[in-house]
Amino acid sequence: MRIDIITVLPELLRSPFEASILKRAQDKGLVEVHFHNLRDYSTGKYKKVDDYQFGGGAGMVMMIEPIDKCISKLQSERNYDEIIYLTPDGQTLNQNIANELSLKGNLIMLCGHYKGVDQRVRNHFVTREISIGDYVLSGGELAAAVLADSIIRLLPGVLNDETSALSDSFQDDLLAPEVYTRPAEYKGMKVPEILLSGDFPKIEAWRHQNALDRTTKRRPDLLNDKN
Ligand code: ADE
Repeated sequence: MRIDIITVLPELLRSPFEASILKRAQDKGLVEVHFHNLRDYSTGKYKKVDDYQFGGGAGMVMMIEPIDKCISKLQSERNYDEIIYLTPDGQTLNQNIANELSLKGNLIMLCGHYKGVDQRVRNHFVTREISIGDYVLSGGELAAAVLADSIIRLLPGVLNDETSALSDSFQDDLLAPEVYTRPAEYKGMKVPEILLSGDFPKIEAWRHQNALDRTTKRRPDLLNDKN
């Protein structure tokens, strides 16, 4: 997979990709992540990427030309499966969307700023609009990092234990069950006995029930007939 991120603030984006799982995924050659500074595609003397909005009103709008130039250059080099615009009025990210996008080959992520991008970019270039939640960030960069992380960790070979992404919260519309590690007792606080029993079918049944109970209590909206 290849992810190209178009941004006015590449420096804000680099560090999440330089540590832990996201770094390992790149080191193993499972994903390539490239950052493109939108200002490099601006023509004027001042490297302008935004301008006042037609019709008046406070707030700048990101201009179509630098975005068009950047996307066109990338598209001249390879095909892209999706051009994703990160925006609070997009489709809210969930595990199903992350799963779906993890099966794609090449993705562009466009980070908005200020009042957002000229609507013509959204109408003519963008193929998908994603929000990471009902709140407003100061730009799309952190949202792009969240989206990229949710996708990259699902790529085969990225996680050490291949099964662990499958037992994540949300993967089967349930929250993950409780987990414990050593010591089995700490200051009188005990680990549930069943987890120490070595009886794996029983442990599996306990985990499923625990996941169901936690989901019922915390996120009843996730429950459907499947469970
Ligand atoms: N840009 C600003 N806020 C955002 C959000 N909640 N999701 C995606 N992109 C954004």
